[in-house]
Amino acid sequence: MQAYRASLLRFDAAGQPVYDEDGLLVVGPDAAGRQRVIDAGAHDAVAARHPGLAVTHWPGRVIAPGFVDMHVHFPQTDIIGAPSAGLLPWLENYTFPAESRFAEPAHAAEVAEVFFDELLRNGVTTSLTFATSHPQSVQAFFEAAQRRSLRMITGKVLQDRHSPDGVRDETEQSLVDTETLIRRWHNVDRLGYAITPRFAPTSTDAQLRGAGELAAKYPDTWIHSHVAENKDEVKWARELFPAARSYLDVYTGFGLMRERAVYAHCIHFDDADRRLMRETGTAAAVSPTSNLFLGSGFFDFEGADRIGCAYGLASDVGGGTSFSPFSTMLAAYYVGREGQTKPGLSIPPSQLWWRHTGGAARALGLDGVIGNLQPGCEADFLVLDPKATPLLARKTARANSLEELLFAMIVLGDDRLVERTVISEARAA
Ligand code: GUN
Ligand code: ZN
Repeated sequence: MQAYRASLLRFDAAGQPVYDEDGLLVVGPDAAGRQRVIDAGAHDAVAARHPGLAVTHWPGRVIAPGFVDMHVHFPQTDIIGAPSAGLLPWLENYTFPAESRFAEPAHAAEVAEVFFDELLRNGVTTSLTFATSHPQSVQAFFEAAQRRSLRMITGKVLQDRHSPDGVRDETEQSLVDTETLIRRWHNVDRLGYAITPRFAPTSTDAQLRGAGELAAKYPDTWIHSHVAENKDEVKWARELFPAARSYLDVYTGFGLMRERAVYAHCIHFDDADRRLMRETGTAAAVSPTSNLFLGSGFFDFEGADRIGCAYGLASDVGGGTSFSPFSTMLAAYYVGREGQTKPGLSIPPSQLWWRHTGGAARALGLDGVIGNLQPGCEADFLVLDPKATPLLARKTARANSLEELLFAMIVLGDDRLVERTVISEARAA
């Protein structure tokens, strides 16, 4: 067992922060050799329960759960910040050309390493991740994640129509490839598979139906797609699927809404859509830097909370402009302030943080596994240095409450704030 002493941030079952100014985190291997949290809380109380334990002391630091990015595209790492009039021209001019290069395994492997370096530098320890339509991109991603002992989720993108040569796949083969990858990688170490139709407009009915059948056959896989991001996209989806009540409802018809189904954006929704999300246990991945960058619109936090939809925060790189959870949380705050039907919402800093850690884990069906530092959680955690920059040092020294401290880090923080990212290693028993 190992113990770490510093300030300690966790969350209770209601998503409220629990903070020990002088905290102690005790981790140790489970039966399979995986490092998990054994005990956590105020230093004196926890230390008394584990006499003689060697303690690593990080004075002035904050231990916090690793961040969970609910929606990101690893093959879009190199097209971050590509300007465009909106989603559809951005896909055509930047995204599809960049993704077509992932047919080449060496390219996929090289970008996967860059991607994981960026995630870890920014304190993200788990992501639900788009690969490309090439099975090789999934293989490269999982191999790299496995070498690094990470808990990671990805899947081969399904897109058998309205997609250019180089990224378009073939219906039957795409489903065979998906099942082969599920059998090869799903639940291997800490890896998980997501059945990943890009979005309804780029899949035929047959491909969506096949995806839904696989989702029923492998019920603990994830489903990962996009919905209702951009007004032109919504119009296009409605033209292609005129029988559906709404764009979101297209996915219901193909069995693609259930627990562990995650849809990015969910902007242009009505309350019936929100109820459908809640009733099916489907979660939204809220991607505010992407929505602001591509001019897509604003996630309705008030609507989601009122109806009771599951959601969490996401970078959506390369539509999103930063891998940093601090940037994402700040953008979510801005959207909450101004982008609402009922404006003026002030999302508390601890709630922004929860939506990017334990709340995101819960929305992924990984409550109690990651995103928190309660006993039993896998020991993926961060050591934050609130004095990482001169301005952070001044501002955090003046914080009068936990909310002020967290807000200072959200507003001023970047990868310099993340001094260390500790990953739960598995050792052979
Ligand atoms: N909709 C379909 N594909 C994409 C994508 O790659 N990024 C975003 N933001 N939206 C999409
Ligand atoms: Zn996306």
